[in-house]
Amino acid sequence: MTTAATSFAPIEGFGLELRPWDANLVRQMAAWGERGFPYHAFDMGHLKDPARAADALQFAQQEGPHRHYIACEDGVAVGRVSINLQDTSGFYIWAVHVPPEHEGRGVCRRMLAALMTALESHRPYGPDFILSSNSFAERAHRAYHALGFELIETRWHFDKDLAAQLWKVRPADREPIARHIRFNAGRWQVRTFVMKRRRGHPMELSRGGTAPWHDPGRMP
Ligand SMILES: CC(C)(COP(=O)(O)OP(=O)(O)OC[C@H]1O[C@@H](n2cnc3c(N)ncnc32)[C@H](O)[C@@H]1OP(=O)(O)O)[C@@H](O)C(=O)NCCC(=O)NCCS
Repeated sequence: MTTAATSFAPIEGFGLELRPWDANLVRQMAAWGERGFPYHAFDMGHLKDPARAADALQFAQQEGPHRHYIACEDGVAVGRVSINLQDTSGFYIWAVHVPPEHEGRGVCRRMLAALMTALESHRPYGPDFILSSNSFAERAHRAYHALGFELIETRWHFDKDLAAQLWKVRPADREPIARHIRFNAGRWQVRTFVMKRRRGHPMELSRGGTAPWHDPGRMP
């Protein structure tokens, strides 16, 4: 697998180094544990196929508005995150993923904290941070809440990949996310939260607990 190196610099902070994708890191991600439905879209097992790995690396190294980072601890890939620096809604964070074998150590929080801190310092007049997330991803929302994200909008969204899986899985498999999905106008939709963090908002990485918008009394 040979491709041109990406032109942006790594980011260091919070015990992590966020590096642009390279062939070695792609091989490490191919070996990550997987979660399956309903988090299948994040799984990286497809990178075991050399052709798909080469395509994914080429995609991640393209010049453009998106930057794709892999969070490393002593050279070991422990998470990934992407950001669109030119989205009209703000610095748009996506593909936030920590494999099961590395979760529970604050990798997600530290990775996003390092990314946002670096951007706030290098682009002092940049916009706020935005992300969207399926409403069933409660674990992710605890992290976003600790980092200062607030829920600004709830919408029903047609996610092609998730909808395809919802047709395939057994009703029992749908049950854990039943209140987050609906069948409407002939297709499956998933409830999606849009969240925003004002630049400079304090981050409390160790804050635990459920995000307030998951309180059953306040669930939109
Ligand atoms: C959601 C996901 C990214 C969370 O990754 P993570 O690294 O385990 O998440 P966190 O950073 O919150 O850390 C988990 C725990 O470590 C603790 N922690 C936080 N900072 C810490 C630190 N510096 N040292 C040790 N532990 C720490 C936190 O208290 C947290 O526990 P809590 O959630 O019970 O409060 C991961 O589970 C995942 O990839 N899930 C599937 C894909 C997904 O849902 N992505 C998000 C879509 S929007």
